[in-house]
Amino acid sequence: MFMKTIVSISLALLCLSTKAQTQLVVPDTLMGPNISLTMHKDSVQFFPTGSKTYTYAYNQFKYLGPTLIFDQGQNMNITVTNDINDTTTVHWHGIHLPSIWDGGPHTEIMAGDTWNPQFTVMDKAATYWYHPHLHMKTAIQAIKGAAGFIIVRDPNEASLSLPRKYGVDDFPLVVQSQQYDVNNQAMPLGMQDSTIMVNGARANNGYSVYGNFPAQMIRLRILNGSGERAFNFGLSNNFPFKQIASDGGLLNLPFDTTRVRLAPGERAEIVVNLTGLQGQTLYLMSYASELPMGVQGGPTMPMPPGSPPMDSPLNGIDFNILQINVIAQTTDAITFIPTVLENNLPYDPTTADITRTIRFTADSMMVMDGPFYFNDSSFNMDRIDLVIPINNIEVWKLVNETMVGHPFHIHDVQFYLFDRNGSIPHQGERGRKDVVFIPTGDSVLFVTKFEDFADSVIPYMYHCHILMHEDAGMMGQFIVVPPEYVGLNENLVLTNRIMVYPNPTTNILKYTLTKIDELVDIRIINNIGQVVYKQDKSAVGQVDISFLEDGSYQLLIKSNNHYYNANFIKNTEN
Ligand code: C2O
Ligand code: CU
Ligand code: CU
Repeated sequence: MFMKTIVSISLALLCLSTKAQTQLVVPDTLMGPNISLTMHKDSVQFFPTGSKTYTYAYNQFKYLGPTLIFDQGQNMNITVTNDINDTTTVHWHGIHLPSIWDGGPHTEIMAGDTWNPQFTVMDKAATYWYHPHLHMKTAIQAIKGAAGFIIVRDPNEASLSLPRKYGVDDFPLVVQSQQYDVNNQAMPLGMQDSTIMVNGARANNGYSVYGNFPAQMIRLRILNGSGERAFNFGLSNNFPFKQIASDGGLLNLPFDTTRVRLAPGERAEIVVNLTGLQGQTLYLMSYASELPMGVQGGPTMPMPPGSPPMDSPLNGIDFNILQINVIAQTTDAITFIPTVLENNLPYDPTTADITRTIRFTADSMMVMDGPFYFNDSSFNMDRIDLVIPINNIEVWKLVNETMVGHPFHIHDVQFYLFDRNGSIPHQGERGRKDVVFIPTGDSVLFVTKFEDFADSVIPYMYHCHILMHEDAGMMGQFIVVPPEYVGLNENLVLTNRIMVYPNPTTNILKYTLTKIDELVDIRIINNIGQVVYKQDKSAVGQVDISFLEDGSYQLLIKSNNHYYNANFIKNTEN
């Protein structure tokens, strides 16, 4: 490589002397099976004048949180203490675990409480993250800083010649685009975002972030942690790199490219070969001018008069995100990477049990800032949208009928994209993913399998990962049900929660239904998924459970048109 080709003589560089430069912060790690997180309120002086910015953070951080290192097979015992004086949740984005530990909106941690998820790490080596998922407050809590990385390690990845020395040749990078109000406070809005942050430090508008990277193969684990903006990542002067991982695992083969487009929630790992470049400088950039119109970040669309302002100064321009200073090679440097990384075998879409179509919709074609819907319906905490039999292999078809691009995310599973607008997606999109970006007019198909965890009460979420769209209702929920449930009404969008009382119960469990006359099937399921009670036309409004052993159970009631459930505890002691 010639020096000329990599030294960027951009305007930004000429202005460097007047910029506040900060060194890239590499977040501290927590590892081992026992991890404690405490979410607290804090504040940071992000702006030279005016108020501090009030933030949320975990542990000793003032903004964001530590990087959690999970080993595949490890039995995790995590405590999350809520010190923010408001309800929250913590969701382990991309991690495959039982819905009760998924940290979705049904698993609230009240102010002052501690939550104790316990699960086995089953995921493949990749970069995941954690963030709150409270109903209607995900955006504000996450953009105030409640987010951190999870790095999963596994034996296959560990056996490969890849950079994996954290903070030496392996770096997590969370890139966020934020919108602050006149009082320097984060707003749960994104269309006029103009502040770029890299690992919690300001990176534009008079600020820049640099890192020192050794002259060898380096690995960047990039997360788009923005509320709304998509980035089209690349290196200055189109310096080439290899994408080695998508959201949920290594790609089968390294993908030679010069761009990786990441919408909110998406991750990619890239390896950059800095061998021989000591003393030189490159930039990680967003080539946003290449994004399609209708993508937050791409060129601003011509708008009809009277439309809300949506003109971020960053839209449609290319800008620097991180300055990469190349320093001396380390000992034991990785200077080549393998040509084969993984052996992911996508499920065969032709064997799918069902194909579901989810259309992204809005009240009209002109809507730019929401609300947006799935299949014309807004999120309802008390409605289960999909009932999925465990071990189903499913094809989901996602069709964007709105004017803006949306990153679609699903909990519980990783999926394989096999069709984008009728064509096979490029190699960087064909690995394991949990978020897929769907620009205006696009449609995509993915295949996945719902394995291992069934819970007929606590749902998993699927939603747009533009956090403001999610909070405004662009979300749905599904339960994965054990075999006993299969055959229950699946297409009617039906589950409602019911009240059961008293709870805990000793002998008679009472429940309230609105249309009791419809009752046809009542079941009680124990905590390992077995049906321990089943009756058609049950006694109205109550069940005698004196025969049950002490423990926790689920009550499931199916009528012609409705599907109700609740958890209860049988306890005869005291
Ligand atoms: Cu990263 Cu349901 O979220
Ligand atoms: Cu998630
Ligand atoms: Cu959206």
